[in-house]
Amino acid sequence: MSGQPAARRTVLKGAALAGTAGLGLAACSTESKVGHAENPVPTAPVDLGAADAVPAGGVKLYREERLVVSRDDKGKCKAFSAQCTHAGCVLTKIDKDGGHCPCHGSRFDVRTGEVLEGPATVPLPKVDVREEGGKLIAGPKA
Ligand code: FES
Repeated sequence: MSGQPAARRTVLKGAALAGTAGLGLAACSTESKVGHAENPVPTAPVDLGAADAVPAGGVKLYREERLVVSRDDKGKCKAFSAQCTHAGCVLTKIDKDGGHCPCHGSRFDVRTGEVLEGPATVPLPKVDVREEGGKLIAGPKA
């Protein structure tokens, strides 16, 4: 019978640790959002410049606009937010291993938005992109 109270103490101790971890995560999220846009996707059309800046089979990071655009071998473009879904940092590097977040190490497949490595668990939001007059325009139509 003396084993039960010990087991209960262990459970309570575990719950306390889980609570602390939860607070840490909340603090991290709040802190990291400072300085980042609330909305990770454009709410108005964004001119990304020359459409041929993203060649067939290529990927381009538009850091200022917080977007990443890829083009498949047939010439079709896709765009995603380049703002990490963990705490909002903007991806800084794209290479053969994906798009890298500098803040806590998440990696994303920039052609699908999928998470390749956490701590992020949510894919990058998809953004509409189109070609108009030789330019790439992302976001909703005007
Ligand atoms: S903000 Fe934490 S991994 Fe990107």
